[in-house]
Amino acid sequence: MPESSDDLMKKIVSLCKRLGFVYQSGEIYGGLQSAWDYGPLGVELKRNLKNSWWEEMVSHRPDVVGMDSAIITHPEVWVGSGHVEHFHDPMVDCLECKARFRADGLESEVCPNCGGRLTDPRDFGLMLKTHFGAVEDDSAVVYVRPETCQSIFVNFRNVANATRQTLPFGIAQIGKAFRNEITARNFVFRSREFEQMEMEFFCLPEETDRWMEYWAEQRIAWYVSLGMDPDHLRLRAHASDELAHYAVQAVDIEYTFPFAPGGWGEMEGIHNRTDYDLKAQMELSGKDLRYDDKLSNRKILPHVVETSGGVDRTVLALLLDAYHEDEIEGRTRVVLKLSRELAPIKVAVLPLSRKLQDRAREVEKLLRPHWPVFFDVTGSIGKRYRRMDEVGTPFCVTYDFDSIDDGCVTIRERDSLEQIRVPIDDLIEEIDRLMTTGWGRS
Ligand code: GAP
Repeated sequence: MPESSDDLMKKIVSLCKRLGFVYQSGEIYGGLQSAWDYGPLGVELKRNLKNSWWEEMVSHRPDVVGMDSAIITHPEVWVGSGHVEHFHDPMVDCLECKARFRADGLESEVCPNCGGRLTDPRDFGLMLKTHFGAVEDDSAVVYVRPETCQSIFVNFRNVANATRQTLPFGIAQIGKAFRNEITARNFVFRSREFEQMEMEFFCLPEETDRWMEYWAEQRIAWYVSLGMDPDHLRLRAHASDELAHYAVQAVDIEYTFPFAPGGWGEMEGIHNRTDYDLKAQMELSGKDLRYDDKLSNRKILPHVVETSGGVDRTVLALLLDAYHEDEIEGRTRVVLKLSRELAPIKVAVLPLSRKLQDRAREVEKLLRPHWPVFFDVTGSIGKRYRRMDEVGTPFCVTYDFDSIDDGCVTIRERDSLEQIRVPIDDLIEEIDRLMTTGWGRS
């Protein structure tokens, strides 16, 4: 492993740019601070991650349904949710060097930059605004959502009526969220535009403790199922002075982000939001958002247990966890040990020599309808294997001179470096088996 955690982050950031996972947004103009563009491999990794979450949280469950709401939200939604009133950070400015800091993160009353005098703390709103329509006055102000879940709350009755779900049940959504973070930093960990995977689980108030426990277990098990080292994950309950304005209880799933103070940083939050949001939106809108309980013939305002994960933070944690350096024949090999489910490229087809490329293209054609395939003919075979190891491709298929006569190719596995020879006629079946059950030979 790399020597220091700083070093590891530098390696991940550089690998992301060089290989096409993540680029700084607007880089040719000096970069837009804390905005990131996902490249060809990054977008595949992110899609695989979101698909896995959706399957786990929605498709494979009878009691959770999905939705996809507008990013620009009615401004009253954020009055109802309490964000207009509560969603700010206290900030101070240095009168000397003009730097700005979060007041609650400072240890002394002088500027940590230059030792200058600081202003009194002032609230700085974290929601990003824009204007709807041609006139940019206050009446046209709308917010881009700072969390995806409020649209779930304001649509609660619509979804409950349409799906005829009975309590307890969940509504899930994946989408972009925006926050005017003051201290946006640490690569994609904290940015101003990011993606959330949220699920609001509506239940009876007396059941919230049980569901908090249940969802904490489920969610941590999902991260482990993605291949993350369980020793790099932990649950941490919030102290009462850390709770967001909507929560009475919160547990974070934390990961060993190298830059995080104390070595652990939040990847997902699990919150007991009570009936805070439904009640507040109901009061402000004057619309009845209660659930019609046919069993008891009562109208109920359910309570909510929320699971709220960050796509970008999970991508970063997956890359950090998958990054390995090993020694092969006296040379350092960088390998991303991403799970087969998440790997952006599943199979690489590599002709041993340029002379074999037309025949190898036929193998590529055979596989392409089934998996994302990468074809590479440039450089020595060793270099091409290394390139695929570095982007986490689980299997390389090599077409060599013997393949012409015996109709077989070699499959090489990324982690064990073991190889097997397989008839091209059986290749799809064999890779399908390996994708499902793994290598299982070493
Ligand atoms: N609906 C509840 C909610 O939004 P949160 O703890 O503020 O709760 C949930 O955010 C998750 O969203 C975090 O655990 C993190 O993964 C992600 N997240 C929040 N702010 C972020 C930012 N500025 N950049 C990247 N991800 C962020």
